[in-house]
Amino acid sequence: MTKKFLAANWKMNPPPEGWEKPDSPFRTHADCDVVVFPTFLDLERCSKAGLIVGAQCGRSTHHGAFTGDVSIDLLKHTPCRYVLCGHSDRRNYHGETDEEIATQVVAALEANIHPILCIGETEEERAKKKTEHVLKKQLSSLSTMNSHLSLTIAYEPVWAIGNGKTATAAQAQEAHAFIRSQLDVRILYGGSVKPENAAELIAMPDIDGLLIGQSSLDVRAFRGIVDACTSS
Ligand code: PGA
Repeated sequence: MTKKFLAANWKMNPPPEGWEKPDSPFRTHADCDVVVFPTFLDLERCSKAGLIVGAQCGRSTHHGAFTGDVSIDLLKHTPCRYVLCGHSDRRNYHGETDEEIATQVVAALEANIHPILCIGETEEERAKKKTEHVLKKQLSSLSTMNSHLSLTIAYEPVWAIGNGKTATAAQAQEAHAFIRSQLDVRILYGGSVKPENAAELIAMPDIDGLLIGQSSLDVRAFRGIVDACTSS
């Protein structure tokens, strides 16, 4: 069995109660790698408590007059080992484009920080049967890069994020198989993952791990997901 990978995206929230306890489910498990993505403010203390940490975003420009931003290059001086690139919140609220996101992936590879590139279609695009077209376009900016990229893809259908509306395991598997046909890398599923649906999702042949938002803000729920992923 290949080791599963769970990413806890805490978004703009403090770490959930109990995150630092010795038996915290956020600690990497023998059968499952766990990485937490806290706000920049909490990176250091999470790392000091023994968790593996990543950044929720980072700018590709190394330095300069970008008030409030943090560059991926500056992340080299933090305990970050991973960075999310192109999460749908960043695409929506910060207007990040595929081209810009590709430069973040390059900056992360240069900084030796593992990029997790987030892609996924909207509800409207799915209804118009454009899912594969959208995924292909979101991946196309990587085509000029070395084919042996050390990166992870997170398939997160926008219509399933943060609203309890999970893709079925079959829908997720279909999208993952398509992504795998384009790029043979580790692929995570994200979008309303809960303890109740984690086992079914993780059992799919092309789902290598999960990216979890809401359910990672509750230690009990996250423990349920870890259990579901390590008992199969
Ligand atoms: P969700 O978020 O699990 O709350 O749907 C996933 C994500 O945004 O990464």
